Amino acid sequence: MSDSSDVRSKKDAGGRSPVNDSHVSVSRRAAVGSVVGVFSVGYVGAVSYPIYRYLNTPVERAASAAQVTEVSPPDAAKVKLGASQTFMFGSRPAVLIHHEDGQWSAFDAVCTHLGCTVKYESSKDRIYCACHGGVYNAETGEPEAGPPPRALTRYKVEVKDDEVIVSRV
Ligand code: FES
Repeated sequence: MSDSSDVRSKKDAGGRSPVNDSHVSVSRRAAVGSVVGVFSVGYVGAVSYPIYRYLNTPVERAASAAQVTEVSPPDAAKVKLGASQTFMFGSRPAVLIHHEDGQWSAFDAVCTHLGCTVKYESSKDRIYCACHGGVYNAETGEPEAGPPPRALTRYKVEVKDDEVIVSRV
């Protein structure tokens, strides 16, 4: 008897127990804290990611591109005799050449003079840099005319079934 009257006496005019109110209050506080925490993490991520991308320097990008060791250029097996395909080897342009005799060769397509992108000219069977008239041999990548000081970096080419695989030498 006295127990129920004691409980009743602890309730307020609205019938709520002070003990229960403190639980609700703590739970609400915890919920609000969790929501604020989640939004804080999201806000920090939203602010820090662009900063990270900004600070991801060309040197770091080059380092990650240097980790690429093998590429299968899409549709490379369809490149006709005497034709070429430009593709990306990591972050660098590259050129794949299918020679008239059926052989393949591939090179880094960045000119060793001042870094323009070179192209294969099928009519002259040469690799040409339009910036300053640099000419490279299409089979070896060695410079043949103009200002390029050294050969283009050569890649290894393997043909397996219908796939052409270009890899670092
Ligand atoms: S950049 Fe290619 S010849 Fe100068």
